[in-house]
Amino acid sequence: MRAVVVRPPRAGVELLEVPAPTLVPGGVRVSVLECGVCGTDHDIVDGKYGRAPVGTPFLILGHENLGVVTEVDAAAPGFAPGDLVVATVRRGCGEDRFCRTNRSDFCETGRFTERGIGGAHGYMAEEYVEVPEYLVPVPPELRPWAVLLEPMSVVEKAIVQGQLVLDRKEPTPGEPKPVAPSALVAGTGAIGMLAALVLRVRGYRVTAIDRHDETTPAARILAAIGADHVNTAGGLATVGDRRFDLVVEATGSVDLDFSLVNLLGPNGVLVLTGIPDAGTPAHDVAGGALWRDVVLGNQAIVGSVNANRTYFEAGLRDLAVVRQRWPDAIPGLISARRPLESFADVLGGRAGGTIKTVLTIRPGGAGDATR
Ligand code: BGC
Repeated sequence: MRAVVVRPPRAGVELLEVPAPTLVPGGVRVSVLECGVCGTDHDIVDGKYGRAPVGTPFLILGHENLGVVTEVDAAAPGFAPGDLVVATVRRGCGEDRFCRTNRSDFCETGRFTERGIGGAHGYMAEEYVEVPEYLVPVPPELRPWAVLLEPMSVVEKAIVQGQLVLDRKEPTPGEPKPVAPSALVAGTGAIGMLAALVLRVRGYRVTAIDRHDETTPAARILAAIGADHVNTAGGLATVGDRRFDLVVEATGSVDLDFSLVNLLGPNGVLVLTGIPDAGTPAHDVAGGALWRDVVLGNQAIVGSVNANRTYFEAGLRDLAVVRQRWPDAIPGLISARRPLESFADVLGGRAGGTIKTVLTIRPGGAGDATR
C-alpha cells in the first residue's frame, strides 16, 4: 500500500510502497479516507519532532484521521464493514494508573507512543489495523467534517482543563447569576477555530485574535457564530482593556504565551495548547510583574496535550450541535482537500490564513465532499 513516510530526525517526506498491515486477532482493518495536516506534522517533516517505531527506519505520518471499516476479526464485536471510524492517537505505557484506565493523555511515565507522531505508525496510508478500544464510531451525517474530530478532541480536553479552574467561580447562593464567562482564543487555525466553536456552544462570550483582517474565512466564520475577531498584527494592545476569564492559546508562539497572561482577568486561567520549538528563547519578559499579577489575581496557567477517547466522544456531540446551529459556518473549516499525490506540497509549506488542509487518501468515499 502507499504511505506518506518520514525518517525522523531527518527532515523530508516521501510516498513509499509499504506492506499492508495484517489483521491482528480482535482487530479491525480500516481503509483511510482522509487525514488532516497540522503543525505537528510540519514539525515532524522539518525534522524537529517525531520518532519512528523501534526497529523501523521510517514512520508513517498522520494522526488526524477518518476511515471506513473494511474487515473485522470475529473477536472484534461491534464493528461492521462500512462503518466510519476515527482512531485515537496515544497508546498508553500500561504502567501507570492513567494508562491502565484509558486516560493515557495524562500518562506520567512518558513511555507512551503516539500513532503518526512518536513510536507508532500513523494513518497517512491506504490502510491501518487497530483494536476497537481505540476506534471511535462516527455517524454518517458527520462524514464531511469528521476528519476534524482529532483536533476537536484536543480542544475539548483543553477547555475542560480551563473549566476545572473556572469552577472555583461557581455562582454564590443568594447573589445574581454571574454573566456568561468571557474567553479569548489566540490563533485561528483549526485548534483556535474549533475552540471558538466549542466555547460558543458552551455559552461563552468569545473573542478570537490573529494577525489577519476581516476578509479571511476564519474572520467570516467567527462573525457567523457570534464571536468577535481582533486583528492583532499591530500588537496585543489592539484588544483594548478587555480581560478574560479563560484564554485558550493555539499558536505555539513563546512570546505570545507570556503576553497572554496579561489578558487574564482576576481568577482567570490561561490554557496553552501550542507546542513551541524547545530551542525558542523568550524576549523581554517582565518576569516580576508577570508572576506578581498571577499571584495577586489568583490566576492559573495550564498546559493541555492530547485527548483520551471521552474527549473524542464529546467532540462528536459538539460537532453535531455545531452542524445544527451554524450549518453554513462549519464547511469553511476545511480550507482545502488535496489528493494524496500532492502530499509533498501540502506538507512542505505552511499556508498562512488557512484553517485546515486535508489529504484525501481514498477518493469517492460515501459523503466525500470533493465529489
Ligand atoms: C496531537 C496530539 C499529540 C500532540 C503531541 C498533537 O498534534 O494532536 O494527539 O499528543 O501533538 O505529540
